[in-house]
Amino acid sequence: MPQSDHSSSLFSAFDLGGLKVNNRLALAPMTRSKAGPERLANPLIAEYYAQRASAGLVITEATTVSAQGNGYLNTPGIYTDEMGDAWRQVTEAVHAKGGRIFLQLWHTGRASHSEFHDGAQPVSASAIRIEGDGVHTPSGKQDYEVPRALETGELKGVVADYVSAAERAKAAGFDGVEIHAANGYLLDQFLQSKTNQRTDEYGSSVENRFRLLREVVEGVVAVFGGNRVAVRLAPNGMFNDMGSPDFRETFTYAAKELEAYGLAYLHVMDGLAFGFHEQGEPMTLEDFRAIFTGPLMANCGYDRQMSIDAVQRGAADMVAIGRPYISNPDLAERWENSWPEAPLSEPTSWYTLEQVAAGFTDYPVYEAGGK
Ligand code: PHB
Repeated sequence: MPQSDHSSSLFSAFDLGGLKVNNRLALAPMTRSKAGPERLANPLIAEYYAQRASAGLVITEATTVSAQGNGYLNTPGIYTDEMGDAWRQVTEAVHAKGGRIFLQLWHTGRASHSEFHDGAQPVSASAIRIEGDGVHTPSGKQDYEVPRALETGELKGVVADYVSAAERAKAAGFDGVEIHAANGYLLDQFLQSKTNQRTDEYGSSVENRFRLLREVVEGVVAVFGGNRVAVRLAPNGMFNDMGSPDFRETFTYAAKELEAYGLAYLHVMDGLAFGFHEQGEPMTLEDFRAIFTGPLMANCGYDRQMSIDAVQRGAADMVAIGRPYISNPDLAERWENSWPEAPLSEPTSWYTLEQVAAGFTDYPVYEAGGK
């Protein structure tokens, strides 16, 4: 049953699988690295998300489902009871402002480094290393390492980690979860032929490459219900050394299969602002509309007019906005009222590890005549 309303405005409410959201804007998931080495949500993080709660949907930064999934400094986790409990202050702060919030579930796979795992290799679908700049570890920037291909018998455990994380997210009061299958992290590593050269039932064919994502979706849907589960895909992206010649076949198959789960939304990084693999013509929202009838969320490089147009022409039901949201906590109000936007923040402020307001929670809301 098509759930999409093709004749609406960016600033109109939307029924996201039974969850009413106040507008079609989402705060895109963005790593901010403020959770400390213990990887716990904290009052500063709660304040940051509460400041942005007028987005129809807040999507948290990528949050690891297991210690094995860690790969970045000071990003939060949700694989212990303490971590789950710490997230409650965040959901409560966003709900107190009338907002909605999904947690993004993450396993970095080969984008990690042995320093995060007591010297053990990071894991992936196959033993194929990222060709790229390097990874920030506790001892500084290091070259990427060749990952260890996960054994077939280990994959049920990976799925179980996603399920436990979803259970903790539900207990912490999240309205739903977004499964991160984009940007070259573990689930994308399994999905794409560039990084998956397995010969077991999790590799070789597109059906098999999709299997791990399918099992994760089914496990998480059993916890939350399909209408509270989303999946994020990056068909056009090159981040983390991704981009496969058969990307169109792979992502068409994935979207068609995901149709069956009645998801809250499919989050497609259609825009090329995060890098384009140039393996063919980029996949568009229209490509996904033709094969996926549930709610579609667009992302990556959208400005106000592009967002308005995407919803107006029916290409997207929602649009996730990243970088402009860092310096404009009230972006929804600014865009709706045509107020000026604050300039983009400095990239050097995005991942500062110190738990301080500067560059994180100190961006003011718009005041007419102010500043
Ligand atoms: C990042 O921390 O740089 C990061 C995390 C998740 C993404 C992309 C980038 O999907």
